[in-house]
Amino acid sequence: MSIPALGLGTFRLKDQQVIDSVRNGLELGYRHIDTAQIYGNEAEVGRAIAESGVPREELFVTTKVWTEHLGGGRLIPSLEESLAKLGLERLDLALIHWPSPGDTIPVAEYMNALAEARQRGLAQRIGISNFTIRQMREAIAAVGAQEIATNQVEIHPFLQNRQVVEFAHEQGLHLTAYMPLAYGKVMQDPVIQGIAAAHSATPAQVTLAWLLQQGFAVIPSSTRRENLASNQRASDLVLSEAEMAAIATLERGERLANPDFAPQWD
Ligand SMILES: NC(=O)c1ccc[n+]([C@@H]2O[C@H](COP(=O)([O-])OP(=O)(O)OC[C@H]3O[C@@H](n4cnc5c(N)ncnc54)[C@H](OP(=O)(O)O)[C@@H]3O)[C@@H](O)[C@H]2O)c1
Repeated sequence: MSIPALGLGTFRLKDQQVIDSVRNGLELGYRHIDTAQIYGNEAEVGRAIAESGVPREELFVTTKVWTEHLGGGRLIPSLEESLAKLGLERLDLALIHWPSPGDTIPVAEYMNALAEARQRGLAQRIGISNFTIRQMREAIAAVGAQEIATNQVEIHPFLQNRQVVEFAHEQGLHLTAYMPLAYGKVMQDPVIQGIAAAHSATPAQVTLAWLLQQGFAVIPSSTRRENLASNQRASDLVLSEAEMAAIATLERGERLANPDFAPQWD
């Protein structure tokens, strides 16, 4: 199975809210679930998966290794703990959530540990998240581009990350767009609203279609069943070249995920 193009994000969702969101998503037909060690919701995601009755082989579950687990032999034990919380024997995708803050731990060290986790069967695929061009180069040098299933980065109409996208395309690296709806901000944009009206669609559907048509996987999150259902229908929407180009003009360098330990962005 390749990475399903439409996944369900779970950042910020905790306790009953994440259980409900994942349960609703699975009932509606989502099969790709994105969590992370730092989200503190792997056990709840696991519970919702177990209760759904969806066969394991239909699911695609991603988690991400937190920065504190990159060194000191902690990476593999941390993934074993994630698997125990999720109630799974193997992840479909294990990502490095963020490069080591300040590059304290060399990229090659934790990429090799992640590759070992895959070899041991903890994850079917491995990948990276929030890696800059330099860090992508280092990751490729360490384990090879064919070993890196995706780089999960912030991409939406207001932050299109074009240098990263261009480099990834050159290297044949797949990209996953996180915060694809700019945490809901796309809903207020008049250009996106206009295109949505022309298609009798929602701004969220238009934005997701714009990303999907560029070949990115997308992982929007929602606490509302009706939004989960309508976001799914983005896959049916086809935007014209002119509409694609109009959304491309909305770039404004608006980065939403920018913690103090973030790398030096391209
Ligand atoms: N790798 C990383 O470092 C990283 C960083 C950030 C995020 N992520 C991943 O990316 C996922 C998505 O990012 P995100 O959750 O921050 O933001 P997002 O998906 O861009 O936006 C979510 C927001 O949009 C709203 N929304 C969703 N569908 C909607 C619709 N159809 N109509 C109106 N509003 C809608 C949601 O509100 P309602 O709940 O009301 O629908 C929520 O407030 C995360 O959950 C996480 O899995 C990864």
